[in-house]
Amino acid sequence: MKKKAQESLTIMTNFVLPNQTNNLDTLFGGELLAMMDKACAISAGRHSESKVVTASVNHVSFNQPIPLGSVVVIEAKVSRAFTTSMEVYADCWIDNPISKTKVKANEAIYTLVAVDDNLNPIRVPELEPETQIEKQRYESALRRRQLSLVLSGKLKAKEATELKKIFED
Ligand SMILES: CC(C)(COP(=O)(O)OP(=O)(O)OC[C@H]1O[C@@H](n2cnc3c(N)ncnc32)[C@H](O)[C@@H]1OP(=O)(O)O)[C@@H](O)C(=O)NCCC(=O)NCCS
Repeated sequence: MKKKAQESLTIMTNFVLPNQTNNLDTLFGGELLAMMDKACAISAGRHSESKVVTASVNHVSFNQPIPLGSVVVIEAKVSRAFTTSMEVYADCWIDNPISKTKVKANEAIYTLVAVDDNLNPIRVPELEPETQIEKQRYESALRRRQLSLVLSGKLKAKEATELKKIFED
């Protein structure tokens, strides 16, 4: 069975409060990671229709500081499903309800694994990308998976064939 990427879309809106900020009065990075992790877990759960655990955080970029009082919107969506694991993108926006502007602040890429009640990995449905960005993220997910597995010592660099192609271009 295949499921569309859109079916896993999870939109989480948060208000940045004083207990979530650093000494510069901007959102503390760890708070943002926790918000994105939750959104990704819900998204992966929607795709797999199972319990999930976070296996790795593959990429995080903090491009814009997020000031106290901001409205933060996280959009999480599964970008590719493998056998038991799923890559999930979290795009983070600062939403200004007064000026009606939406600025991209950060993004992160998580890997989550579907598990049974004994924490054993279980199979997930295939993912069908539809939009251009969904297709781009789907295509590039394999090399990110290989990079993550190489960095975590679970795959030998010489076996990371998709990853090697980047350096051959
Ligand atoms: C994640 C976990 C279930 C993986 O279990 P495991 O025994 O290593 O199982 P496997 O080696 O079969 O890996 C399962 C899947 O995860 C993927 N995976 C494991 N580590 C990964 C990593 N660092 N990066 C990317 N994918 C990873 C594997 O490639 C495999 O994917 P596939 O089935 O789609 O091919 C296990 O390590 C675990 O429970 N970790 C703790 C999770 C946790 O507590 N998270 C924080 C709170 S939610």
